[in-house]
Amino acid sequence: MKLLEGKRILVTGVANRWSIAAGIARKMHEHGAQLAFTYQGERVKASVEEIAAELGGGPVIECDVSSDASLAAMRDALAAHGKLDGLVHSIAFVDKASLSGKVYEIPRDGFKLSMDVSSYSLIALVQTLRETLNDGASVLAMTYLGATQIVPNYNLAGIAKAALESIVRYLAFDLGERGIRVNAISAGPIKTASSRQVGGFSKILEIVPKVAPLKRNITIEDVGNVAVYLTSALASTITADVHFVDAGYHAMGMYPPDVTL
Ligand SMILES: NC(=O)c1ccc[n+]([C@@H]2O[C@H](COP(=O)([O-])OP(=O)(O)OC[C@H]3O[C@@H](n4cnc5c(N)ncnc54)[C@H](O)[C@@H]3O)[C@@H](O)[C@H]2O)c1
Repeated sequence: MKLLEGKRILVTGVANRWSIAAGIARKMHEHGAQLAFTYQGERVKASVEEIAAELGGGPVIECDVSSDASLAAMRDALAAHGKLDGLVHSIAFVDKASLSGKVYEIPRDGFKLSMDVSSYSLIALVQTLRETLNDGASVLAMTYLGATQIVPNYNLAGIAKAALESIVRYLAFDLGERGIRVNAISAGPIKTASSRQVGGFSKILEIVPKVAPLKRNITIEDVGNVAVYLTSALASTITADVHFVDAGYHAMGMYPPDVTL
């Protein structure tokens, strides 16, 4: 059964084929969605165009979420392609120096930039596209356990994710009168260009399969499957939620006694 037949969805945050957004786009395409993509800068343009061509050949539009001019230009370019039934926010940036060390050493400028790109950008995208979103549309953001729990080294990324999760809830309230749902997926760790910046990330990937109830790491396709569900009519009563796709890791309060790390 195809769950997204006839739905038009804008996917942000594809940088390459390892991006979580690429896994989401692939699964949404398999479920019949017509996709449009945004990319950040010339550096990733060719790779995003290649992925878009494989997944239905929809429009590929530049958008730097830290620039109001870029957001407005993206909206104008998208206008020719009709309205949206879905928006996927899969964007974050934190300077590598703030993904290890001490939180009390984080500089003001780095804090502002991370909160702008990783958190405010969800507000900015909704603000820019609110007339483009159909009533009943779905908005989806990507978050991580480090928003609410201490994950050593995730540091500023966790602080930005805490804001993002709160923004999800307030936007869900604001947009609920139009039947627009706003949710987040809290994905388990996956090796991507962004996650590799987190200090000790490869160790995190080793720990999860030893500790999580399902004894495995997750893939971008696992996230894509849940993104399809949350964007589909099957999830029409789900909003303001953070949905874990992490093999159950978030529910553990202590490592199993037989685990050697
Ligand atoms: N990989 C993980 O372990 C993991 C786990 C949970 C949540 N997430 C979240 O998933 C999302 C996608 O990350 P990913 O792991 O796929 O890494 P990624 O590096 O493939 O994707 C991050 C994206 O953010 C985009 N971006 C950064 N600054 C931007 C800007 N100013 N304007 C527009 N786009 C910008 C990049 O171009 C890139 O496409 C992020 O929100 C990340 O925090 C990742």
